[in-house]
Amino acid sequence: MQSITEIKSLRSQIKAWRQQGHSIAFVPTMGNLHQGHFSLVEKAKTLADKVVVSIFVNPMQFGKNEDLDSYPRTLVQDKQGLAELGTDIVFTPSVETIYPNGLATQSFVDVPGVSEGYCGGAREGHFRGVATVVTKLFNLVQPDFACFGEKDYQQLQVIKTMVHDLSMPIEIIGVPTQREVTGLAMSSRNGYLSEQEKDVAKVLYKVLSQTATALKSGERQFDSLESEAKSELAQAGLKPDYFSIAHRDTLKPAQQSDEAFVVLAAAFLGSVRLIDNIQVVN
Ligand code: PAJ
Repeated sequence: MQSITEIKSLRSQIKAWRQQGHSIAFVPTMGNLHQGHFSLVEKAKTLADKVVVSIFVNPMQFGKNEDLDSYPRTLVQDKQGLAELGTDIVFTPSVETIYPNGLATQSFVDVPGVSEGYCGGAREGHFRGVATVVTKLFNLVQPDFACFGEKDYQQLQVIKTMVHDLSMPIEIIGVPTQREVTGLAMSSRNGYLSEQEKDVAKVLYKVLSQTATALKSGERQFDSLESEAKSELAQAGLKPDYFSIAHRDTLKPAQQSDEAFVVLAAAFLGSVRLIDNIQVVN
């Protein structure tokens, strides 16, 4: 596995691969890799000849009071895991390499519609930061495919919309959420939780699953399903941020005539913000 930090070296390797006719799949990450990330790398390997993984904790997508400084950084283990999976390049640029002129004058990419509400509503500027850094990384890696987790469902829809709207020649592949045996979605932020807190955190997926079962059985009282779910989360000790039944592709609030739904949820456990979702197709 080649470990690359500079844009020049990345571009020259990508160019050489292209001259040899190789296809490229890309997995952008912020590191502290777990089985969720590794499942994206495994998927990427099935799609293309070469796999590039980036590790970059992107300051542009963190809000002022968020965990940018304390975000877990575990580069040595991350690289080891990626090498074992047969990753071809791990790209770990510095903040100065990605944002040489700082953030104040940085051009950006906004994706209206799908990036509004849910996490976009709760985290101002978050999806602008995500769309901007992903565009930059796409321009550097120039992949044929890029893999994103369904765990961050709104992010996946934002990226799919951006690629479509801006005619980027990249196929976006969604990969199912990897979970602990308890059902808790794997996340780098789970490292902030004690074992006791993890026991509470798993209720998020339990409640999402109950809502999914109700939708599957034809229940369509969306408002009452959402408020029942929120009170169940609160009873368990979670502080719901949102719990919403939406159209699976547009993320607009669910309509009676819809057949494909996604139930999206975010909840605080202390200061840790957990997110998860579940898709339902009738
Ligand atoms: P990060 O949180 O590191 O996640 C990188 C990728 O791993 C994302 O596509 C995310 O959805 C996926 N992922 C995380 N947990 C997962 C799980 N349990 N199962 C399946 N996939 C999972 O998401 C980001 O970084 C950043 O916003 C990024 C896209 C890299 C832009 O900075």
